Amino acid sequence: MKHAILDNMKTFVIANQKGGVGKTTTTINLSAALAEKGKKVLAVDLDPQANLSSGVGFTQQYSKDSWKSTDQAPYPNIYNVLIEGLPLENVCAETSTKNLSIVPSHLSLAGAEIEMVNMISREMLLKNALSTVSDSYDYALIDCPPSLGLLTINALSAADRLLIPIQCEYFALEGLGQLIETTKLIKSVNPNLTIGGVILTMYDSRTKLSENVVADVKSFFHELAFDTTVPRNVRLSEAPSYGKTIIQYDDKSTGAAAYRSLAEEFLQRFD
Ligand SMILES: Nc1ncnc2c1ncn2[C@@H]1O[C@H](COP(=O)(O)OP(=O)(O)OP(=O)(O)O)[C@@H](O)[C@H]1O
Ligand SMILES: [Mg+2]
Repeated sequence: MKHAILDNMKTFVIANQKGGVGKTTTTINLSAALAEKGKKVLAVDLDPQANLSSGVGFTQQYSKDSWKSTDQAPYPNIYNVLIEGLPLENVCAETSTKNLSIVPSHLSLAGAEIEMVNMISREMLLKNALSTVSDSYDYALIDCPPSLGLLTINALSAADRLLIPIQCEYFALEGLGQLIETTKLIKSVNPNLTIGGVILTMYDSRTKLSENVVADVKSFFHELAFDTTVPRNVRLSEAPSYGKTIIQYDDKSTGAAAYRSLAEEFLQRFD
């Protein structure tokens, strides 16, 4: 299953077109746990909702009026890179977590998919931008919006591996067929792309349902499912409102333990 990955930086896309399954929580906290283990990580916010950017505390330095308005963003961001050709390195920002940098997003990215339609190599814009910083990081993790539009297509085109978070809920597997089909189509522009793993999120040990979803996912994805399941943990949902990763917010929480364990498995698979 392993392919040689040519660039120094290994790029992962965290995608599932279903909303609220834990894409952003996983991108932030897996990135933070990898950074804690000494890896240089670039977390890329490709969602106009910019939850990753606020979740790591980046947007807090700006007034809500300015960073939440649809007007010009108060900071350079991924929109300027994809649509205006600003060099990616001008946008990468360090965070309060050592070894963790981000590429911030902004609501103005919401218009980008329409603006991209007539651009040359419109699905390769992110890949081309990331290639300019591939010497500076060990891993790039790209957080996607809940859709299979051109932004997600750009992320799939840029990545070596797809990581799919799946919420332990009813209809967990719904829509995954479409994501897998899209991944196959992307192979024409990105032959490298394979599914790197499936992450079960918001596991509730009190319910039979969570157990059933884990069993279903494991029987469908086999060894692609990570052994680590992320429990439902209120600390994980509180941390972003303080602009903190789970490791900064509550080092001893079950959420922190889960993302550390996931990072270990991740490194066993990909390092
Ligand atoms: N393991 C968890 N335990 C408790 N709450 C969680 C957990 N994972 C995520 N959440 C919460 O669930 C909500 C959805 O999570 P998140 O934003 O990570 O999903 P998403 O897939 O990025 O959503 P979207 O599709 O809107 O981008 C958030 O409020 C988040 O704080
Ligand atoms: Mg999200």
